[in-house]
Amino acid sequence: MCGISGAIGLKDVSNALFESIRNLEYRGYDSCGVALIEKKRLLVKKNIGEVESVYRKENILRHRSNIGIAHTRWATHGSVTKDNTHPFLSKCGKFAVVHNGIISNYRLLREQLIREGYRFHSETDSEVIPQLLSKFYAKEKNIELALRKTMNVLEGTFALAFITTYLPDHIFCAKRESPLMLGIADETKFIGSDFNSFIDFTKNAVIIEDGEYAVISKDGYIVKNSITGEEVAKTIMKIEWDSETSKKGGYPHYMLKEIYEQPQTVQNALDISEDDIADLSNMISKARQAYLVGVGTTFYVAKFGKYTLANLAGQFLPTVSSDEFMSLANVDSNDFVLAVSQSGETYDTLSALRYAKLNKCPTGAIVNVMGSTMARLVDKVILQGSGPEISVISTKAAISQMAILVRIGLHLGIKNKKISKQTYKKHMKDLRELPEIIHGILNERSGFIHRIAHRYCQVKHWLYLGRGIYYPIALESALKMKEVAYVHAEGMPGGFLKHGTLAMIDENINSIVFMPPKEDKKLYESTLHCVEEIRARSGFVLGIHFDARGKNKDLFSEELILPSVSPVVAPFLQVVIAQLLAYFTGTSLKRNVDKPRALAKSVTVG
Ligand code: F6R
Repeated sequence: MCGISGAIGLKDVSNALFESIRNLEYRGYDSCGVALIEKKRLLVKKNIGEVESVYRKENILRHRSNIGIAHTRWATHGSVTKDNTHPFLSKCGKFAVVHNGIISNYRLLREQLIREGYRFHSETDSEVIPQLLSKFYAKEKNIELALRKTMNVLEGTFALAFITTYLPDHIFCAKRESPLMLGIADETKFIGSDFNSFIDFTKNAVIIEDGEYAVISKDGYIVKNSITGEEVAKTIMKIEWDSETSKKGGYPHYMLKEIYEQPQTVQNALDISEDDIADLSNMISKARQAYLVGVGTTFYVAKFGKYTLANLAGQFLPTVSSDEFMSLANVDSNDFVLAVSQSGETYDTLSALRYAKLNKCPTGAIVNVMGSTMARLVDKVILQGSGPEISVISTKAAISQMAILVRIGLHLGIKNKKISKQTYKKHMKDLRELPEIIHGILNERSGFIHRIAHRYCQVKHWLYLGRGIYYPIALESALKMKEVAYVHAEGMPGGFLKHGTLAMIDENINSIVFMPPKEDKKLYESTLHCVEEIRARSGFVLGIHFDARGKNKDLFSEELILPSVSPVVAPFLQVVIAQLLAYFTGTSLKRNVDKPRALAKSVTVG
């Protein structure tokens, strides 16, 4: 869970590397470092802290060089210390390496290297890499051979890059499972964990595949297969995102900016071609058993998909947290696995898909990041086109995935003869109005939600309750509160309450109830029972509901009223409200909302 980058060919790469790893900070931000070649010598500058403060502390911008690599870390092996920060130097002092991934056999390699006289200065798995390069170079006197031999003995996952004074005009990089790509401009080349690392400089990218390595100079690059050593032909991909959408654009946080971008991301989801939607829907209906997988927010989005497909198409898809998939599902070529992922790089979801592929099971994915590992791995991908989601907290990508799942549900509904063409048209019309409605909510309700958040930000425990399709909404909303504000929030199906949890209701716990629109009569009434159960015990209930004219004032302790909308779009509005509530609670409690303490974007470790 780290970001790596590199640049060659600019007069002064220090500044470019600064921008680059700052754009990658969502992948990890506990420490960072840079290696440059200055006056034919390797210079490593690193420290703990965020990119801006490390650059300042270490005065990195004063060093000028036309080649360098950089790293921003999210500690997995070894605590957050300067010694554990990348880049790492080899014993001979001639190689500086950055690494993202996990070297699973590092203990063995390290013991072996120590016996051979190598010394280690960190607790990390990554430090074996420069030592191995140095060891193999001593024998082979050839950098590429040393790299191939190193790749051969490394087990686990890596995207690694190094510079060496033996060939000071080249960056070397290699990949297995962790993401890696090149950025190609005329006389400047870049490497990075994703497009964000070089989007300010070029929109031409080359994706490095597993088992490949690249040798890059300012004038060119060559990609080779690490086993055969043969050159691999590569095509240049045009990045469609523009660098401006990766900036904060006047908002105090990316999270808020991305919440406000949701009308557009929903619109983009609605613009996805009907053929793409039909492909995934056909793969679901062809399968003996189709599954939905995701983790964290995308697990809850997948759960939302489960209810959507059941409600609209009468089709039940078991939905499994990706990390549990292998323990549960026995898939083969008759089945189908549909994954949901913003980054397309999440280890757990990739593992579930790889497991499916190993068993010859067809796979599909709804993914935001084009060119990501998942987008290239599956048989059918839908690129959601939500643009870069920089905040570690997923908001706009999730809502777009929900819209895509509703479209798949509608398509499948027609196919399964569960809904008529007319109903399909009506729901599509409602969906098309959604961007405008979200826009209205953001403009009209933010201030009120801000006040509510401020009023209740000291509450230590929340229950988030919803029934039916509002249950995954409650789960996702509670996750937002936990991860942004570090406040305990437990999502639960409303019907669960009376089976034990009611015992918890007192003045120390507040509840939020996600009410369906009244026209969803059964669900509405059963959800109302939950409210009554809590109120009967003098519990506090914040009701998020659509019933402006009801007698709800007596029912809820506090209420947030939404415009009356059709049941198919109602859950989307609840999500937006919960995102804002979490955001404003986080800011009221002075949390670092874009970089919460226990989460990195793209969780690329298991
Ligand atoms: C929550 C959040 C995480 C991710 C999860 C999956 O706001 O961001 O729970 O949803 O790590 O990540 P992706 O969607 O990139 O596979």
